[in-house]
Amino acid sequence: MTTTFLLLLLCSFIKSSASKRTNQDHLPRGSSLSIDENSQLLTSSDNTFTCGFYSFQTNAHWFAIWFTNSKDRTVVWTANRNTPVNGHGSKVTFQRDGAMVLTDVNGMVVWQTNTTSTDVNRAVLLNTGNLVLKNRKGQILWQSFDYPTDTLLPSQTLTKSKSLISASRKGSFQSGYFSLNYNSNNVLTLSYDGPEISSVYWPSPNPSFSVWDYGRTSYNSSRIAVFDGMGVFISSDRWRFSASDMGFGIKRRLTMDYDGNLRVYSLNESSGLWLITWQAIAQPCNVHGICGRNGICTHGEKLECSCPPGYEWSDPTDLTQGCMPPFNKTCGNSTSFGFLELPHTDYYGFDLNFSSPISFEACRDLCLEDCSCEAYNYRLTGEGFCFTKSALFNGYRYPYFPAVTIYLKVPKGMETQEPASILTTSLDACSDVTVMVGSPSMYESSARKVKWVYLYSFAIAIGVVEVLIIVLGWWLFYGRNALLVSLEDGYRMISSQFRGFSYQELTKATQNFKVEIGRGGSGAVYKGILEDERVVAVKRLGDVTGGGEFWAEVSTIGQINHMNLVRMWGFCLEKKHRLIVYEYVENLSLDKRLFSSSFLQWKERFKVAIGIAKGLAYLHHECLEWVIHCDVKPENILLDHAFEPKIADFGLAKLFERGGQNSEFTRVRGTKGYMAPEWAHNLPITAKVDVYSYGVVVLEMARGIRLSSMIVHDGEEEESELMRFIKVTKTMIQKENTLWIEDIIDPRLEGLFSRQQAAKLVEIGLSCVENDRNKRPTMDSIVQVLIDCEFE
Ligand SMILES: *[C@@H]1O[C@H](CO)[C@@H](O)[C@H](O)[C@H]1NC(C)=O
Ligand SMILES: *[C@@H]1O[C@H](CO)[C@@H](O)[C@H](O)[C@H]1NC(C)=O
Ligand SMILES: *[C@@H]1O[C@H](CO)[C@@H](O)[C@H](O)[C@H]1NC(C)=O
Ligand SMILES: *[C@@H]1O[C@H](CO)[C@@H](O)[C@H](O)[C@H]1NC(C)=O
Ligand SMILES: *[C@@H]1O[C@H](CO)[C@@H](O)[C@H](O)[C@H]1NC(C)=O
Ligand SMILES: *[C@@H]1O[C@H](CO)[C@@H](O)[C@H](O)[C@H]1NC(C)=O
Repeated sequence: MTTTFLLLLLCSFIKSSASKRTNQDHLPRGSSLSIDENSQLLTSSDNTFTCGFYSFQTNAHWFAIWFTNSKDRTVVWTANRNTPVNGHGSKVTFQRDGAMVLTDVNGMVVWQTNTTSTDVNRAVLLNTGNLVLKNRKGQILWQSFDYPTDTLLPSQTLTKSKSLISASRKGSFQSGYFSLNYNSNNVLTLSYDGPEISSVYWPSPNPSFSVWDYGRTSYNSSRIAVFDGMGVFISSDRWRFSASDMGFGIKRRLTMDYDGNLRVYSLNESSGLWLITWQAIAQPCNVHGICGRNGICTHGEKLECSCPPGYEWSDPTDLTQGCMPPFNKTCGNSTSFGFLELPHTDYYGFDLNFSSPISFEACRDLCLEDCSCEAYNYRLTGEGFCFTKSALFNGYRYPYFPAVTIYLKVPKGMETQEPASILTTSLDACSDVTVMVGSPSMYESSARKVKWVYLYSFAIAIGVVEVLIIVLGWWLFYGRNALLVSLEDGYRMISSQFRGFSYQELTKATQNFKVEIGRGGSGAVYKGILEDERVVAVKRLGDVTGGGEFWAEVSTIGQINHMNLVRMWGFCLEKKHRLIVYEYVENLSLDKRLFSSSFLQWKERFKVAIGIAKGLAYLHHECLEWVIHCDVKPENILLDHAFEPKIADFGLAKLFERGGQNSEFTRVRGTKGYMAPEWAHNLPITAKVDVYSYGVVVLEMARGIRLSSMIVHDGEEEESELMRFIKVTKTMIQKENTLWIEDIIDPRLEGLFSRQQAAKLVEIGLSCVENDRNKRPTMDSIVQVLIDCEFE
C-alpha cells in the first residue's frame, strides 16, 4: 500500500517537474493552502484543472476550481460563492480532525466539509475537475461534484435537490436568480427566482404545450441528469441533447449563464477560448425576469432592455433591477388616471383577470376601477379579449408584429408622453466568447468568430444564420410503445420506430422502384409497402456526401415528430445508395388542391394555413433543433384524408449543402417565385426565408391562383404576379375600402368565406413577403394570430 502511494507521489513529482510546475494534484491531511504564497495550488494530473485561491477583486478571493488553460481561467466551482474571503491571511486547512476548512483572515470559518472525524487522508483534484477527499482505501468521503455552483462538468450528475444557479452578473461568482433544477413534477426546468417573482421559462410555459410536447415525461421520479464525455446530456425526464461538436476528447462545460440561458461551451485548447456548442433558449427575451420589473426586453439586433416612457432604471448598472415609474402607485379617484399605450409590447403573466367577450372601453374601465390593475392588454380577435395585469414583469416587445399592445395605467398627464423617448440599453455582451452553434464540420472548416452580439441578432432572427440544422439535441427517448395524443394542440408523440433499412429491403418494398409518385430537386419518390404492411414513400437522393454525416443528419431529422410534418421512418445507407423512408400521405399535395377544379373550400384552406404554420413554427422554434426548410411551396405540402397538412422534405437542405468549401449555402435552394430576396442578395439565410415562402403560399391560398409565376408586360418587362397582387391589395387597403377583401379572395369560393379570417390571412401573407426580413413576423407569432381567429 505504502509503496503504491510512494510510487504515485513519485510519479506526480516526475510529471510536475517535467512540466516545470511545483503544483501537486493532492493535499495530505494536516497541510494547508494559503493565499499568500501564490504557488500553492492543486493541479489535476493532466493539468486540465487547477484548484486554489482565485482572486476576482483585490480583496475578494474564492477557494475555487478553474480550467487551467482557458484564457480567462474559467471557474467551474467555488466553495465560498457568496462569501469571498480576504486577500491576506485567508487559508484552506485540511485539518487533523479530517475537515477541510476555509478560514478568513480573522480566523472565521467560511466553509468546511462534512468529513470531521472520518479516516479521510488526502484531497485530490481529479482530471474530471472533481475535488475529492479520500481515505486510505480510496473511498470518496466528500466531493465538490456534490455541490455544483453554476457549472456541470462531464461525468458530474445533477440530482434531486441540486441546482445550477447562475452568477448574478458577468464575471461575478455571487448567486443570481436563474437556476436549472428538477421541479416537483420531475421535469428539468429553467426558472427565474428573484426577490419579487418566481417563474419557469423553460420548457416554454406556453399553455398550449405540455411537457410531452417537449419530449419529456413527468413520471420518472429518479430526477437525475448527467452530462457525459461525448457531450451528450441525458436526464431522467427523457430530455436529451448533445453538443454540436459531439465526440470524445473535447473539454466542455454546461453552464447556467448569468443571462438566464443554459449553454454548453467547448474549449478551443489552442486559443483558450470557449465556443458555444449548444444553448437552451434561442430568443433571449424568452428568459423571464431578464429586464426586471416594468422593464421591456426587445427582440432586435441585440438583447436590449428598455423602460416605458417616463420610467427610469432602478439601477442603471444593473438592468435586471428593472424600471421605476415616476409616480407613486396610488389607488384613489379613478378619474385621475389615464393610460400609456405601448404598441407591440406585452408582459408575460400576472394576469388579474381575463374577460371575454368585452369591448375596449369596458376593458379599460375594468382596469381603471380595479385598484390593483397596473395595465391591460386588449386583443380584438373576434370577440375581444381583456387581460388585466397586477404586476409588470417579463416584458417583451416584438417590433415588427402589430398584434399586441399594452396599456399602462398612469396618472393623468403622463399618457401623452412621446413614445420615442423609450430608454434602451443593451445588456453587457461578452465579446470574448466565440459562438459555434453548428455542426462538427463547421467546427473544422469555419474559423469565423461570431461575437455574442451577433449571436443575439442571430437568435432573434430565429436562431439560424447560415446553418440549417443546429444540433441542439434530440429525442431518442420517446417511449417505445407509448401512444399519446394531445388533441388540443395537434402535437403527437408516437413510438420512435426510426431505423435503418437495407437496400434489398427497400428494393423489395418498392418492387424494384416501380411506382414513382413524385420527383423533385432532391430526388425521385417511390411508393412502397414494408413487410409490416406499412405504406411508405421512399425517396432516392442524388448527390449526397459523407456516410457518417448522412447518418447523423438523418437520425437527427428522424427524431422530429409533429403532426404537420411528414414523418421519417428510416433511411438506407449502403454503398452509394442514399434513401429515406417516409410515411405515405394519402391525399394530394396542396398545389393540386388549389390550382385545379377540385379546389379546397375556405374552411379547409384556413386549416391548412394553420397547420403549415404550426409545422414550420415547430421546426423553427420548438423542436430544439432549429431547422430551416428552404423550399416551402404548395408541392411540398401534403394533405392527409382529413386535409391536415404535412410538410414534406424538411431538413434535407442540409444534406445537400455538406461538403462544400464552407458550410454556408453553396447553392441556392428553393423554387423561383417562393424564394425570399435574401437568396438573390447573398444575405445570410435565416428562418425568415421560410416565412417569406409561407407568405407566398398563403396569399396563393387566399387568391386561389399561382402568384409565384411571372407575367410579361409590354413584351419585355417581367413582373411577378405576386408583386402586382401586393401592390393592388395594399392600395385597396390604404383607401380603406372595406370591401377590398371581397375582391381579393378566390372568386371560385363565391363569397363563402370568413371575412375576418381572410383579412387576417392576407394581412399575414403581406407581412411575410416584406423584402426586409426583419419586418416579417416569426412563425410562432403567426400561429398565435391564426389560432386566435380559428373559430370565427
Ligand atoms: C457529506 O455530505 C454528502 C452530501 O450530503 C454525503 O453524500 C456524504 O456522505 C457526507 N459525508 C460524510 C462523511 O458524512
Ligand atoms: C428513469 O430514469 C433513469 C435515468 O435516466 C433510468 O435509468 C430509468 O430506467 C428510468 N425509469 C423509468 C421507469 O423509466
Ligand atoms: C482554435 O483556435 C485557433 C487559434 O486561435 C484557431 O486557429 C482555430 O481555428 C480554433 N479552432 C476552432 C475550432 O475554432
Ligand atoms: C413617492 O413617495 C415618496 C415617499 O413616500 C416621496 O419621497 C416621493 O417624492 C414620491 N414620488 C413621487 C413621484 O411622488
Ligand atoms: C374624483 O375627482 C373628480 C375631479 O377631480 C371629482 O369630480 C369626483 O367627485 C371625484 N370622485 C371621487 C369618488 O372622489
Ligand atoms: C373577472 O371578470 C369577470 C367578468 O369578466 C367577473 O365576473 C369576475 O368577478 C372577475 N374576477 C375577479 C377575481 O375580479
